[in-house]
This record gives sequence, C-alpha cells and structure tokens, in this order.
Amino acid sequence: MKIIAFLNNKGGVGKTTCSRTMAEYLSKVKKKPTLAIDFDPQCNFSHQYLKMEIDPASPEGLMPPIHPDFNPDDPDDTDWDGRSSIAEIFYGQGVVPYPTYIEHLDLAPGHADKLLAAEAVRKTEVVEKVHKQLTNFLNSPDVRSTYETVVIDTAPSKGPLTVSVIKAATHIIIPSVMEEQPVQGIYGMLQLWMQESLTREKNRPLQLIGILPNMFKQTRLHKDILTSLQDNTAIGKYIMPVKLSQRIVFAEIDSEDANPRSIFDFQGNHVAAQEANGWLEVMKDPLYFLKK
Ligand SMILES: Nc1ncnc2c1ncn2[C@@H]1O[C@H](COP(=O)(O)OP(=O)(O)O)[C@@H](O)[C@H]1O
Ligand SMILES: [Mg+2]
Repeated sequence: MKIIAFLNNKGGVGKTTCSRTMAEYLSKVKKKPTLAIDFDPQCNFSHQYLKMEIDPASPEGLMPPIHPDFNPDDPDDTDWDGRSSIAEIFYGQGVVPYPTYIEHLDLAPGHADKLLAAEAVRKTEVVEKVHKQLTNFLNSPDVRSTYETVVIDTAPSKGPLTVSVIKAATHIIIPSVMEEQPVQGIYGMLQLWMQESLTREKNRPLQLIGILPNMFKQTRLHKDILTSLQDNTAIGKYIMPVKLSQRIVFAEIDSEDANPRSIFDFQGNHVAAQEANGWLEVMKDPLYFLKK
C-alpha cells in the first residue's frame, strides 16, 4: 500500500487541490481503491466530498456528518455517536471511512476540534504517542487489505500532526507557489524529511517525489524563483519537471455545487485537465511513484 502525503507548512499553496487531484485520478480515472485522509483541522479536503457540519462544541470548527452505516438501534453501535473522523485514532476509537460520490474513493474526514487537540499536545510522552497513531492505523490489516493507495492532505504546520504524517507516509510531495514565503516552507519540509529519513528503518524509506510548482504564472517573479530553485545544487534535483499553472477552474471546482465537480470530468483537451494529466503521467516514471 502506498501512502502519499502533500506537505508544506505554508497555507494556500495547493496541498488540498493536489491531494484532491491525486485522489480523484487514482479512484476515478484508474479505478483503484483509494482512501483520502484529511489531517487538516480546517477540513477543506473533507468538505469536497462530505457535507461537513458545524460542531456545537466549537462553533468555528467542522465535524463529519452522521455516517451512512450508523444505526442507533443496533446494539453494536450504542457506544458510537455515529460520526467518524480520522482523529478517532487519537482517542482509541475505530475510524470508519465514508463512501464518496466517486466509486473507488473513500474518505476519512477531519474533525476540527479533535485534530486541534492532537496538534496542541506538548508533553513529550503524549507527542510521541500522537506521532505513532497514524502509522498504527495505516498498518491495520483492514486498511491494508482494502486500499491500494492512501492520499493524505495536511495542515500548514510543522507540529505533531504533520510529523505523524511524515512518519506514516511512503511518499511525499511538496507543492509550492514560486514566491518567497511558500519557498521558505519548502526548506522546512525538506528538513523534516531529512530528519525522518535518518531514523527510518532501511526497508521502509520515505521517498520525496519532489517539489511541485503550483499556481504558476508567466511572471518575472515566478520564473526567476523557479530558475533559482532549479539551479540550486541541494534542491534542484527535487523540482518536478512539470508544473500546474494558475487556472481559475481549480478554484471553481472547489465550490459545493460546481458542475463538473472533478478536474477529470473536463474534456481531455481542456488546458487544466491536460496539465493535471501531465503531472500524473510524469508520476508514472518508476523514479516517482505510480506504476505504468
Ligand atoms: N493551480 C491553481 N490554479 C488556480 N487556483 C488554485 C490552484 N491551485 C489551488 N488553487 C486555489 O488556491 C486556493 C488555495 O489552494 P489549496 O489547495 O486550498 O491550498 P492549501 O491546501 O495548501 O492551503 C484554493 O482556493 C484553490 O482552489
Ligand atoms: Mg488545505
């Protein structure tokens, strides 16, 4: 099972958009059983597939709706409130993924309050526990036998949630806008990747697929920053040979009633669909990730 995560501790660089594109490519186009995980308390990824609800316990945050399999009359369900987010891993409860409108795609949604609580832990012993929980969940026989790939969207942070994703992942991609602040985020993520690589078991390496330039515009600023990264001896080799341009359709399909809903619903000759396909075609290189 491959576990691919999108990371950058700066917000608004395309982590959620890229997670979505990858998850929809695998499930919708390739028809492979795929699990999407939303590890960001903002729950943007979940919101693409589920009608998230406002949490009365924290009115600024979202929680998942009642699960379609929940049956309050079933004696097995009496100790379950009917909602299930990925954050249950921190509370010793089972995670029950939700089906989505895409046939081969399931979602383990976020839950703002519960994810924020895990992100806020500071005591070393508790932090260490948080770090391990996602790996444990993804190692469970149920998950391993059901899904071929897991796609994880992350919060813009370097805290315990992000570290637990880095510990669980097999592959990571760092999307970034070619501007000063997001590029600083690249350095932070590379540091975490290197730290993790030092302590990983040799038979379970963490592969950095690369840095994916996103929201690229043909401006002097974007072109200059991209060139300087490509020319950087430490980083140049990690810049992916593809990029996603700034295209309004990526923002348009975020809306709840968007039609079409997926970038892969657009005709093959649509420029944004072509770019998304181009990125994923490059990923078929054995160097990267997807098998041909
Ligand atoms: N290539 C792109 N072209 C245009 N808009 C984009 C592109 N990628 C992302 N966006 C938009 O930019 C905003 C931030 O992207 P998002 O994926 O949510 O970033 P993050 O998850 O890193 O915070 C969203 O409104 C999204 O729709
Ligand atoms: Mg996001």
